[in-house]
This record gives sequence, structure tokens and C-alpha cells, in this order.
Amino acid sequence: MRSLGIRPVPYPLTPPHYLPNMATMDQLITAATRAVVVNFPGNPTGQVAPPDVVQALVDWAERHDLWIVSDEVYDQIVFDGQPLSPAHIDPERTLGVYSFSKTYAMTGWRLGYLAGPPSAIASLTKVAMGIWSSVSEPLQYAGLAALEGPQAIVEDRRRQYQRRRDAAVEYLDRVQITHSNPDGAFYLLVHIAESGLSSRDFALRLLDQAGVAVAPGSAFGEMAEGFVRISLASPETDILRGLARLAAFLGHA
Ligand SMILES: Cc1ncc(COP(=O)(O)O)c(C=O)c1O
Repeated sequence: MRSLGIRPVPYPLTPPHYLPNMATMDQLITAATRAVVVNFPGNPTGQVAPPDVVQALVDWAERHDLWIVSDEVYDQIVFDGQPLSPAHIDPERTLGVYSFSKTYAMTGWRLGYLAGPPSAIASLTKVAMGIWSSVSEPLQYAGLAALEGPQAIVEDRRRQYQRRRDAAVEYLDRVQITHSNPDGAFYLLVHIAESGLSSRDFALRLLDQAGVAVAPGSAFGEMAEGFVRISLASPETDILRGLARLAAFLGHA
């Protein structure tokens, strides 16, 4: 972003609902603001924005004449609530961002796509050509195979993530550790502020002393300090084993 001369301005998503607040956003906007980036279901919160929040966001973007860049890479991994894309309300100002990474577990293959109004796509194609010329051909065929192959795997996997989410939430409630309640995606935030450690030090010590890898909340912005993110993309037994070690580390086991 910075190489394109764009200055990203973070806005807070405050617990427990991790949703944007339009009054706060109003304070951050300047004459130079061109776009707002939204991400639901969100990484790391797993939050799905309810339709009234999406409507308020779109109204706000219309009032300020902003593009909405809507990162919807987890749109097929939803457990609760009905995700609504801003593109359904205002397709002319929304650029939807999608990936094969999450729906088809093709992470690392860097295969995704953008959907938006034709005028914007024409100029974005020129910008994209200056940054990369194309996705490698074998990966394009892999994407085609994913799209044309049986789709039952998408729902099977969604259910698997949901079962893991339920098991993790049930365990954390039982040992009385505060956590986020993800509606989608495959992450969960665990509150670790009582350890007295920064989320980065907590993650490093947990890895070193308990052999459990988590992502420090600070990697996602200052609002997530005091949390670590666990991933639900591992087998349920591993997740529960990791959480038991985390709980012991926090003195909650
Ligand atoms: C919200 C969000 N957007 C985009 C991406 C990037 O996906 P890709 O693997 O297609 O680069 C990720 C990956 O973790 C993500 O969490």
C-alpha cells in the first residue's frame, strides 16, 4: 500500500462484538480518504457483520463517496448469522476480494480474485499487470478443478470447523478463560492479559515452554493486544491438547 502512496489508517473493532462504529470512523476520515476496507467474516475475530451494520457501513461510504473494499475470503465458512456483502447493497462502489485459500484449503497458492464494477476492473487490471503478470498456469488449472469438482467438500469442511469451534468454546468456558465467539472463519481469540505478558511474549513463551504455536494479538493491531489467536485449521484433538497446555500456562487447568 505504501509503495502506491496509500496511507492505511486503522480503525478499532472493539470487543465483545468486534464491529465498526460509525461515529469513530467519522473522526478518522479526512479529505484524502478514498476507500474503507472491511473484512467479514473477519480474521482474527471470526465476526460476521449483521445486515444492519453492513447497511450502516454502506450508507456511511455513500455519504463520504468512498470505495468499499470488502475482503470476503471466508464467505463460505460461516456458522452463525447470514453474511451480507456490501456489493448486494451498492455494487457500483464495492470491490469484493475472494480467495481459493480458505474455501478450498489452497493456502499459499496465492490464487484469488476481485469482483467489482466493470469500469474499476478495467483500470485495476492495468495496475495488476504492473505488479504481477499472471498466476502460474498449473495453479489456474488447480483453481478450475476446485470450482468444477464436487462441492460437498466445502460444506463438510465448514461443519468440521464449526465442530472444532464448538469444542474449543466449550473447553474455554469450562476452564473459565475469556474468548471471542467466532461466527465464521477458523480462528478464535483467547484473552491472556491476566498473564501480565504482552501477547508477543506470551506467544513466544507458550511456544518455548509448552510447544504450542499461537499468533500474538498485537500482529492484528493494538485492539487485539491482550489476546492470542488460535487456529481451528488443525484436528480437534490437537486443538484441545493445545488449549489444555495454554490453560495450564495461564493457571486455569
Ligand atoms: C482476511 C484475509 N484476507 C486475505 C487473506 C489472504 O489470502 P490468500 O491466501 O489468498 O493470499 C487472508 C489469509 O489469511 C485473510 O485472513
